[in-house]
Amino acid sequence: MQDKPPIILGIESSCDETAASVLTHGEDGEPVVLSSIIASQDDEHRPFGGVVPEIAARAHVKKIDHVIDQAVRDSGLTYQDMDAIAATSGPGLIGGVISGLLSAKGLAMALGKPLIAINHLEGHALSPRLAAPCPFPYLLLLVSGGHTQLLAVRGLGQYERLGSTVDDAAGEAFDKTAKVMALGFPGGPAVEKLAAKGDPKAIKLPRPYAKTKHANFSFAGLKTAVARAFEASDKSDTAKADIAASFQRAVCDVLIDRTANAMKLFLEKTDETGPHRFVVAGGVAANKAIRQSLEDLCETHNFTLTAPPMKFCTDNAAMIALAGLEHYIQGNFADLDVAARPRWPLDSAAAAANPASGFGKRGPKS
Ligand code: KG4
Ligand code: ZN
Repeated sequence: MQDKPPIILGIESSCDETAASVLTHGEDGEPVVLSSIIASQDDEHRPFGGVVPEIAARAHVKKIDHVIDQAVRDSGLTYQDMDAIAATSGPGLIGGVISGLLSAKGLAMALGKPLIAINHLEGHALSPRLAAPCPFPYLLLLVSGGHTQLLAVRGLGQYERLGSTVDDAAGEAFDKTAKVMALGFPGGPAVEKLAAKGDPKAIKLPRPYAKTKHANFSFAGLKTAVARAFEASDKSDTAKADIAASFQRAVCDVLIDRTANAMKLFLEKTDETGPHRFVVAGGVAANKAIRQSLEDLCETHNFTLTAPPMKFCTDNAAMIALAGLEHYIQGNFADLDVAARPRWPLDSAAAAANPASGFGKRGPKS
């Protein structure tokens, strides 16, 4: 292996952020983020109250070259200084993934540097290590607009999916709740703000899978129940606040209930005495009520909570570059004809045995 730490250019484009980052590691082996650029597409998707795949793909194509260029310039290095190009190759919205992966292939070819194909979920799984040392193993709740999963992260390439949503992600439910009540996009912060003024007990909403022992989620029924509750209400500000508060409480209860189940599953397979590590990542981790509930849960179950700063919780390319660095060290490179994958479970054995999400002819989604 070379004696200087490798420098990795990471590219992320699987949903609605176009992102690039340059990363290396220090003498202690801990990652050092040299630059991280994220171009949000919120303005493009706002009129539709959700991410529109076609619009996302076009926006990635428009922004990606500039974002990569900015990341390289901000790092104070040049393209030739990069030792490898790492790009998200799935799972995600296929038009976006193709856009980032094609840029990575072009750069790898032009620079004569290796290409590394990264699973977006692996980026999230390793992301807490961008902010502070976070030794393996840990339990991860990934809760965003695209994913809701509980994973045991035991090492690079060692991911056990303990649970996943069978339909919508939690963030998607926040966005749809906001859309029904015309609160704006992205919906999470708007619902949280309104929920602070409402009564969380005012509206009876379902807690899908309550009292089960598994760690799977379902948010589609909750979303429908919110739409019905709003239709039946007088649509006043008070009614909206009560619905927002009741919905947020329901999401909190579901996340806590299933995380408690996952903690039990996680502890069944560890000899460590604790305290054990629990990490929450993804855009929904910004929600203060959810964070507080998770903190309380950790206290009662002898876990310590780590929540990386928001810039590393939400989609970013630093986490892709970090996964790239780990694979670079192990010599895991991709061929230049590697395909973009809309579906790519991190734990393919669990996804095949328990196809929680999007199982079809092409196999499990995530
Ligand atoms: O991780 P992220 O930026 O993108 C992906 O989906 O991958 O997460 C965005 C999601 C959106 O659904 C947004 O509504 C939600 O995170 N979100 C929140 C909050 N802030 C963002 N949900 C609840 N409360 C919040 N404060
Ligand atoms: Zn993501």
